[in-house]
Amino acid sequence: MSIKIDTLIIKSKDVLKNSYSKYSNFKVGASVLGDNGKVYVGTNIENSSYGLTICAERVAIFSAVSDGVKLINKLVLTSEEDNYITPCGACRQVLSEFSNKYTEIILVNKKGEFIIKTVEELLPLAFKI
Ligand code: THU
Repeated sequence: MSIKIDTLIIKSKDVLKNSYSKYSNFKVGASVLGDNGKVYVGTNIENSSYGLTICAERVAIFSAVSDGVKLINKLVLTSEEDNYITPCGACRQVLSEFSNKYTEIILVNKKGEFIIKTVEELLPLAFKI
């Protein structure tokens, strides 16, 4: 059974409750659909040493990779903002490592409306070895 975007959105919103964001009060949720058909979630995890904070996207991606995933089919990014939020630069570079031109980055606003981008659109000329 193929995982629907709606399911990924629900999972990315559900993980917002676990956001550890006591310093910014900015909750972010991500869900990743690996090419193995499995879903992985992540939320942002902050630290009193602020620079150690890790974004929701990287938590979800690293969870997928830890389970053996090398290619992400879809990544959904959600927050409690009225507007869509977009991945930070570091997350775009990490995404580019585990994506291809068919990978869909789905940005969701508070109402549940979404837009779909490719990694190439988010990070043209990504650094690759
Ligand atoms: N954050 C993410 O989780 N993903 C992003 O792409 C941008 C920022 C988090 C990090 C921090 O906990 C909070 O949002 C405010 O920057």
